[in-house]
Amino acid sequence: MDDGERSPARDTDLSGAAQMADTASTVALAGHPLHAMMIHFPIAFGLAALACDGMLWWGGDPFWMRAGLWATGGAFLTGVAAGVVGLAELLLVPGIRLRLSGWAHAVAATVLIAVLGANWLLRLVRPEDAVGSGLALSALGAVMTGVAGWHGGKLIYHHGLAVLPQEESETEA
Ligand code: HEM
Repeated sequence: MDDGERSPARDTDLSGAAQMADTASTVALAGHPLHAMMIHFPIAFGLAALACDGMLWWGGDPFWMRAGLWATGGAFLTGVAAGVVGLAELLLVPGIRLRLSGWAHAVAATVLIAVLGANWLLRLVRPEDAVGSGLALSALGAVMTGVAGWHGGKLIYHHGLAVLPQEESETEA
């Protein structure tokens, strides 16, 4: 049985030109994958939220409480948008869907988006908890950003997913 056709296979089972043909991004602008363009926003907003909480804890200026509310909201909303595009790539590109690394990244990123959402919700209902539960959620978000980003990067730089096959990229250049 060719289990690579039916279920996610071990990444080591999949290699070679035939598999590469099925790995090109489907949600792309002029050959540039949209997910890779969008993920910078939740990463930057999420880390900015951690910085805001740190400044609030350090100096107590309520400006950082308001800035943290905007940063966490931005992180969650842009994270959901990037996640929808990432989910489309995962489901539509067979060469990604069949790799365990794709699913490992999706699970880590979904946990990250849930943490970003909880962090924003906390500030909407209990802004006074920004230093405390908020800071802890921002720190957890930073850790999960590292985990999800590492797995995401692995898809591109270890497995060469979502990149154009060389001959196509030469035609476009
Ligand atoms: C805030 C949430 C997310 C972050 C920070 C993130 C981060 C990343 C990173 C850093 C890469 C490598 C891109 C590159 O270096 O060019 C990547 C690729 C990828 N991610 Fe995500 N990701 C997120 C959400 C998701 C979700 C929810 C899914 C699927 C359910 C997903 C599926 C993918 C796929 C399929 C790829 C490889 C193909 C492509 O780049 O289009 N991602 N992600």
